[in-house]
Amino acid sequence: MADPSGLARGLTQYGDRDYALYLRRSYARSMGYSPAMLARPIVGIADTGSGFNSCHRLVPELIEAVKRGVIAAGALPLPFPTISLGEVYLNPTSLYLRNLMAMDTEEMIRAQPMDAVVLIGGCDKTVPAQIMGAISAGVPAIQLVTGPMMTGRYGGERLGACTDCRRFWARFRAGEIDRAEIEGIENTLAVTAGTCAVMGTASTMAVISETLGMMLPGTAAIPAVHADRLRAAEATGTAAVDLARCKLAPAQVVTKRSIENALRVLLAIGGSTNAVLHLAAIAGRLGLEFPLERLNRFSDATPVLIDLKPTGEHYMEDFFAAGGVGAVLRELKPLLHLDCRAVTGETLAARLAEDAGFVDRRIIRTAGAPLQQQGGLVALFGSLAPRGAILKRAAADPNLFEREGRAVVFSSLEDVARRIDDPALDVAPDDFLILQNAGPASAAGMPEAGSLPIPAKLARAGVKDMVRISDARMSGTAYGTVVLHVAPDAASGGPLAKVRSGDRIRLSVKERKLDVLVDPAELARRPVPPPVMPARGYARLYHQHVLQADQGCDFDFLRGARA
Ligand code: FES
Repeated sequence: MADPSGLARGLTQYGDRDYALYLRRSYARSMGYSPAMLARPIVGIADTGSGFNSCHRLVPELIEAVKRGVIAAGALPLPFPTISLGEVYLNPTSLYLRNLMAMDTEEMIRAQPMDAVVLIGGCDKTVPAQIMGAISAGVPAIQLVTGPMMTGRYGGERLGACTDCRRFWARFRAGEIDRAEIEGIENTLAVTAGTCAVMGTASTMAVISETLGMMLPGTAAIPAVHADRLRAAEATGTAAVDLARCKLAPAQVVTKRSIENALRVLLAIGGSTNAVLHLAAIAGRLGLEFPLERLNRFSDATPVLIDLKPTGEHYMEDFFAAGGVGAVLRELKPLLHLDCRAVTGETLAARLAEDAGFVDRRIIRTAGAPLQQQGGLVALFGSLAPRGAILKRAAADPNLFEREGRAVVFSSLEDVARRIDDPALDVAPDDFLILQNAGPASAAGMPEAGSLPIPAKLARAGVKDMVRISDARMSGTAYGTVVLHVAPDAASGGPLAKVRSGDRIRLSVKERKLDVLVDPAELARRPVPPPVMPARGYARLYHQHVLQADQGCDFDFLRGARA
């Protein structure tokens, strides 16, 4: 007998299947659908619209366009709500909640009768959460992103969230602009619906989703307000119906080889460090390891091709007009696994055999004349980070790469807030700023706080960058010589917890090394406070089960292939 489809999938347990289906159809009739519509295959649409997620403001319009495509292709579209994660509205962090959204997405896909699902994501953690959940749910899935914002203008200058937010805030801290001006700029940084306008985490994950094959080709970079975004939504609805018919599961699209392609592309776009965590977590859902040594191997042989902020000059709307993801994939072709299939069933080889169209070489360089010869990210290992750390070298100052320095330690984010601008702080431009207790196991939930502010007295003296090291993350829109994701983190007792102000630290990007130059016996003697376990709720679940950064901060019980 064929597997049940449409409303007959996954019946509610009453001990009588016929009754369960009769009851379900009766209630579905109350929505006003005809029997013919209720007999169609069902495409679920994960609705992540939320008053707390400005990046998803146009989700209702996208849902209507997806529905058009689904109905035209002969299926029944049924939207359903899931958690939405609006990066800047969440406490403590969106990463802390990513796994909750992944669980919600997985369970709602599995629990409800859908033959395929359209995942509408966009803001930073929503895209990886949906991919993780969909892989584990095992139902055919296709992703649609909300798309990036357009840029705004301030005094003749073009601005986009949120690399420019940081740039102007740094100038405000340095006393170069006053409060009235920073308040004026606030009105011009995020001027349309959509995700951050630069190659931040949201854009990086959209590009990665397209590279993994989870999205229609050519749709990752379409601006949120562009009519093409609605056409992409309609086409996504149609493609979802095809997926329901051919039953291509996410685990047949996202594979070891497509993850390797995504890693190549991440490096070539100078993408967000957050994507390393998300790719590790996505790999983990398939039961695959994601060794950081592979990142280094790929990084050495993958050029940076696109000139976008925060590593370059341009914005996502320029990237879209310049040729988008397809143009990057074409340049990387010799480095990619061309047999990988997208949700359309098309191989990467077939996609890249099509006409390339116009490519603006000011934005997307050729592999022969790249922006940088080596990839944007590098992993570091050593006595300070036995399980690795990440540096976005494309957004860092190479003059700071081969250095030994004195540690100036902050024990927490609260400690940073208390002391960083204290005129009495003992700090010099050559020191290394160290932040502890901001990793996945900390109460802070691994915030995007690794890009510590330059101490006010140094900023006012013209210091623009310093080596900063932490177990925290950094926003994909940020920049600087910032070593992140130190693992194991301080809250779980890693060596980072034992560093004291005055210790010497050695960084060598060339050798991929990060060491604390303290006698190991002395380091072992230094006490570390035990972690505090929350009493109840999601906080307790999170702290009992969260993995370290090198495993993508997923929960231990969510890894592995689906049973
Ligand atoms: Fe939503 Fe940047 S805050 S994408």
